[in-house]
Amino acid sequence: MNYRGKSHSENISKSTPISTSVLCSLQIFSLDLGGISAIVLNGYDAVKECLVHQSEIFADRPSLPLFKKLTNMGGLLNSKYGRGWTEHRKLAVNTFRTFGYGQRSFEHKISEESVYFLDAIDTYKGRPFDLKHLITNAVSNITNWIIFGERFTYEDTEFQHMIEIFSENIELAASASVFLYNAFPWIGILPFGKHQQLFKNAAEVYDFLHELIERVSENRKPQAPRHFVDAYLDEMDCNENDPESTFSRENLIFSVGELIIAGTETTTNVLRWAVLFMALYPNIQGQVQKEIDLVIGPNKIPVLEEKGKMPYTEAVLHEVLRFCNIAPLGIFHATSKDTVVRGYSIPEGTTVITNLYSVHFDEKYWSNPEVFFPERFLDGNGQFVKKEAFIPFSLGRRHCLGEQLARMELFLFFTSLLQRFHLCFPHGVIPDLKPRLGMTLQPQPYLICAERR
Ligand code: HEM
Repeated sequence: MNYRGKSHSENISKSTPISTSVLCSLQIFSLDLGGISAIVLNGYDAVKECLVHQSEIFADRPSLPLFKKLTNMGGLLNSKYGRGWTEHRKLAVNTFRTFGYGQRSFEHKISEESVYFLDAIDTYKGRPFDLKHLITNAVSNITNWIIFGERFTYEDTEFQHMIEIFSENIELAASASVFLYNAFPWIGILPFGKHQQLFKNAAEVYDFLHELIERVSENRKPQAPRHFVDAYLDEMDCNENDPESTFSRENLIFSVGELIIAGTETTTNVLRWAVLFMALYPNIQGQVQKEIDLVIGPNKIPVLEEKGKMPYTEAVLHEVLRFCNIAPLGIFHATSKDTVVRGYSIPEGTTVITNLYSVHFDEKYWSNPEVFFPERFLDGNGQFVKKEAFIPFSLGRRHCLGEQLARMELFLFFTSLLQRFHLCFPHGVIPDLKPRLGMTLQPQPYLICAERR
């Protein structure tokens, strides 16, 4: 790494063993990930300085062998900062607006899905079960409406299998074996290791999506899109004479896969943590239910309009997002030019790890950050207050494209759930609260009893 002066990590690694807490207290330090130059940004100030003040320079993604192998740096989420990303992001944002949150009727789709979701929970009649499967189905169906114009039943084992192995890949992507593959891609020829499982899953997901895309586009009428897939195919038609166009069948499959998994893995895990915390803190659960009963009532279907009148529920959801850090390191960025941050020279092509976890535990912005305390999002009058250092959806040009959709889903699913059920752990046994490590932080599997209120 090309620093003006000595880097912090150099100083530390020579004199003291590096503990996580020391590293997290440094705003910026460098890492050598087996030949891949990387920097880690810690705390709100450093992340903002790079992702907001130098937004364009920090908008690239690293050309890691894993991403190259999986998407050839195409698609949307992993694509390099350039024409491909601009075209795909613009199309996705427009489509999400047209077929998703821009439509009033879309809210009804989420409400309809929550009724399926609650009815499926009801079949357990208060007996212990793992909610993961049902939440995943319900949440992915919201994105499925936008992408394919249809939902999948909770009994559709093929679709569920696809989501399961895709989600397994999110965990595998953070495994030692895949880390080694990124540093030494030649190990890809070895017939064993977790990276092989990851490639096998990715190939299966690709084939599944390919067939699904063919099916949902069968009766397509050009320039009359019904969903994201149609809109994408229209773009391909419009650009067929442009040799530089980045719209292609392959990139369509990558984009669809990325949108499904980015939307499902995150929102599902936030809801799983939210349920876990409600059972862990019955008094907080009780306060949310009191607010639901007061503002919505016991039977009416929750609507987004009521969100503004429910500051405590909003505070709880924000605290879950802050405390649980679903995407603790965001998605890796890369620099598209040489630059300087806080006196350190950072060359073009450096991998940038945004430690969002450290932002949400940054003592400059949060008091007692290690305590789960929804009231930190309320003012003296009990009104909801925004916090600058609250960035679960990241910042800058690459900030989460699905933030608005995720916020809608979280509010509607969470309020519907607590309106109908009281949540508790079977026999009062508290499950392990340590998160499962991967590119996302998800709870360990746990059982819950959902008793009709
Ligand atoms: C609570 C739910 C969610 C959380 C916490 C979350 C968080 C994030 C984060 C931290 C990033 C990385 C941004 C960066 O690179 O700096 C991201 C990117 C992204 N998210 Fe989300 N996300 C959520 C839901 C969704 C949903 C529902 C969708 C769409 C269906 C979605 C689609 C994306 C996409 C496409 C990107 C890549 C954007 C780009 O590279 O331009 N996310 N998200």
